[in-house]
Amino acid sequence: MDVTFEKSEQTTVEWLTPPSLVKMLGEFDLDPCSPENPPFTHAKVNYTIKSNGLEKIWFGRVYMNPPYGKGMEKWLEKLKIHGNGIALIFARTETKTFFKHIWDDADALLFVKGRIKFFNLEGKQVGTPGSPSVFIAYGSNNVEALKNSKIEGKLIVLK
Ligand SMILES: C[S@@+](CC[C@H](N)C(=O)[O-])C[C@H]1O[C@@H](n2cnc3c(N)ncnc32)[C@H](O)[C@@H]1O
Repeated sequence: MDVTFEKSEQTTVEWLTPPSLVKMLGEFDLDPCSPENPPFTHAKVNYTIKSNGLEKIWFGRVYMNPPYGKGMEKWLEKLKIHGNGIALIFARTETKTFFKHIWDDADALLFVKGRIKFFNLEGKQVGTPGSPSVFIAYGSNNVEALKNSKIEGKLIVLK
């Protein structure tokens, strides 16, 4: 049976990536799923739920920490097709998303050591959603970015 991401109360929280972590990965052109009134942004252009980032045209180098829960697969599929970007998701390596869009398609993975302390919409560092995280690179430039990032963890180059 395919495993999808667990549904829990935590899926309603907007876990925002610490800006310091994204800075370690370089500059990004687009964040396709950013909050409506963000305390900070990670890219030059930011789509929100109002404009529906999933339906829009993506361009340039993408940073993506997609909405958690059901629907995650579509975001990873779109990034895979786009081919230039880094995603941050839970390291739930047994899920359908991993088997359909990551294991055979991504270029590298960086499993983060420890737990990321995410931010909330007020810009406060609130903690962890209780899962390990992994950065996923599509495109050789993004493999290099993971290699050079100095983010603590284990890098696995897949291609
Ligand atoms: C896990 S948060 C990450 C936010 C930000 N990218 C970051 O890492 O700091 C996911 C974001 O996706 C937004 N979102 C949900 N559905 C969306 C959609 N269809 N289009 C664009 N953004 C969406 C949510 O409002 C939320 O802010």
